[in-house]
Amino acid sequence: MPDVIATYFFIPEQGTTPDEAAQAICEEETTGTWTDISTRTAYVQRLDGTVESVEEAGEGYVTNIHFPAEIFEPGNIPQYLSVVAGNLFGLSRLSAVRLLDIDLPDELVPFKGPKFGIQGIRRLIGTKRRPHVGTIIKPKVGLTPEDTAAVAYQAAVGGVDFIKDDETLTSQAFCPIDERVPAVMAQLDEAKSETGRQVLYAVNVSDRADRIVKRAEHAIDLGANTLMVDVITCGFAALQALSEEPGIRVPIHVHRTMHAAMTRNPHHGVAMRPIARIVRMLGGDQLHTGTVSGKMEHNLDELLGDNSALTGASYGMKATFPVASGGLHPGKVYAELSNLGTDVVLQAGGGIHGHPDGTAAGARAMRQAVDAFMAGVHVESYAKDHYELERALSKWGTH
Ligand code: 6PG
Ligand code: MG
Repeated sequence: MPDVIATYFFIPEQGTTPDEAAQAICEEETTGTWTDISTRTAYVQRLDGTVESVEEAGEGYVTNIHFPAEIFEPGNIPQYLSVVAGNLFGLSRLSAVRLLDIDLPDELVPFKGPKFGIQGIRRLIGTKRRPHVGTIIKPKVGLTPEDTAAVAYQAAVGGVDFIKDDETLTSQAFCPIDERVPAVMAQLDEAKSETGRQVLYAVNVSDRADRIVKRAEHAIDLGANTLMVDVITCGFAALQALSEEPGIRVPIHVHRTMHAAMTRNPHHGVAMRPIARIVRMLGGDQLHTGTVSGKMEHNLDELLGDNSALTGASYGMKATFPVASGGLHPGKVYAELSNLGTDVVLQAGGGIHGHPDGTAAGARAMRQAVDAFMAGVHVESYAKDHYELERALSKWGTH
């Protein structure tokens, strides 16, 4: 079976050569430890890893390390991560180390990937090429179920394709799932009877491990047509539990709250790339990967590569819909789409609910900005005869 290949950026600690540093990663994560050991017998040594290459890269080095496939338990992602993204981050012979990417042999990918993927979600909404427009109900916490539903209705009649809970809203007393889901779905049904358009509503079912599947099934019983999970705080195993549960037949929207603790430092941590690959393998239908022009820090090259990891060919799996979210408004739509292409979900919270004329007008303005892009018309020209867009641009500008 071919090896697992993991790519790292690293900076060796003073007194350690680059080769020694790469070797230290390799040994720590396979059969070695800090000293010779008599128990590392000949039959165990077949499981040694190998350092394939060490190359200079900016302020440090990039290495490819091969880990024998046999040390991985097929299908057990927590165990895979314990090898490729485990103790190595704390090794004192390296002053910094960042996992950039992973390449798994087919035998270690017994996963089915997204059930819906981009095309499946497009079929549910009835779109072919245009980007989807989503919103996060804001304020992120505090609204009652009735007010949450009223905001969802406004967003739906304004033209969004997708509505989601924010990452910190689960089932607090002020807005429990039991009351929120029926209230929102009733309003979305009402909107559908007026517009004919189906809107997806992702209920954040994030919860402790022993309860998340039950919570998801309960949300579906209450009418939820999409689920959302905070994948870093719940764990990748939670996503897998949801996507592999036979009774769960709705798309899964994957939020990455807390990811920046791992992904943001360019020298240390875990890049978004392996996270994106794993989320796709484990059945995430949509995943936040970042924006070009929004409020969160990003690296454009990494973002484009992360989106390709979601949409390019991979183990015969469906494509995961990349989601751009955080600080977007209609004036930023051009920057997003011209960089990210049209297979993307653009989400705006403040950029919809903060519209001078309210949520429905904000949703219209976002859709108009998307329509302008699809028609190849400059957003400011398009705004001349699209009132809601004009009002949005006059509040937020085009940058
Ligand atoms: C989300 C994300 C995030 C973002 C917002 C969007 O839930 O989509 O956490 O990417 O920060 O919640 O809200 P704004 O559009 O108001 O920034
Ligand atoms: Mg949020």
